[in-house]
Amino acid sequence: MTTKTQLLDASINVLKNSYCPYSQFMVGAALLTTDDIIFSGCNVENVSFGLSMCAERIALFKAISEGYQKFDAIAIASNTDKPIFPCGACRQVLFEFSPRLKIFTNYDKKDYVLVDLLPYSFDSIN
Ligand code: THU
Repeated sequence: MTTKTQLLDASINVLKNSYCPYSQFMVGAALLTTDDIIFSGCNVENVSFGLSMCAERIALFKAISEGYQKFDAIAIASNTDKPIFPCGACRQVLFEFSPRLKIFTNYDKKDYVLVDLLPYSFDSIN
């Protein structure tokens, strides 16, 4: 059973793979499935800035494409000494699969729940 500390460590470990020559802002994410598998991701930037992708969505898309759709928690790290929270786009994309996802971030001992970070989210086209 993966602990919060282990998940945070995984988010720190993947930081080294961050490709961020434009912002120099490294982000690492480690997403834990409900059956205890970790998918990690780092941000990947592009010279056409808008094509860059966040660490959280890369971790999520890796997991989805491997057949996992239920998640328990995500840990997020950066190369700063501040807590990092998912951007608005990542919140919406993560919400699609796990509204009750726990969010752990370095430099903040509190645990958050995704739905609390995305109130009144868009969740239906019907
Ligand atoms: N970034 C993430 O990877 N995750 C976030 O939640 C916020 C921002 C990345 C995108 C870009 O490569 C860099 O951080 C600066 O915005």
